[in-house]
Amino acid sequence: MASETNLNAGIEEGVRRRDFINIAAVSFAGVGAVAVVLPLVNQMNPSADVLALSSTEIDISAIETGQAIKTSWRKQPVFVRNLTATEIAAANKVPLSELRDPQTLAERTKVGKENWLITLGVCTHLGCVPLGAAEGEPRGDFGGYFCPCHGSHYDTAARIRKGPAPKNLVVPPYEFTSDTAVTIG
Ligand code: FES
Repeated sequence: MASETNLNAGIEEGVRRRDFINIAAVSFAGVGAVAVVLPLVNQMNPSADVLALSSTEIDISAIETGQAIKTSWRKQPVFVRNLTATEIAAANKVPLSELRDPQTLAERTKVGKENWLITLGVCTHLGCVPLGAAEGEPRGDFGGYFCPCHGSHYDTAARIRKGPAPKNLVVPPYEFTSDTAVTIG
């Protein structure tokens, strides 16, 4: 009887040890996997200086209605324009069928902030910087922007209306972080 008890105890002991060894091996494998995955994930995350380059913060509080400013994002010029009610109405009354690159002003701005037109300042023909963002510059036949390189005219939603450019000025990704601040990128 005593030897049977010893035998059972021995078996249980053996099972417990094996369990421990298995658990230890699984845990070790788990730690190993995390240790391998983390450097990979970290390598894929952009560094802080790259992140800073990829987004631009703009204070728009000083841009009066009817004014525009030039800024830059990822080394490209960006126009930020505070449209007047007349410019908004002019953009909204154009039938989409008349547009080479049909888009409404609403599709090119944020809900409730249709007066803020934010586009790249890069002509979609061959990449010149159009005029119209700075005080006194010509704004073309449609009151938006004018590219002097080959005569492309953009309207008050920065949509191409005349000239060789095939597309509207590009709206970059952006969001309002407050009523007076925008982050591009
Ligand atoms: S680059 Fe603007 S019209 Fe050619």
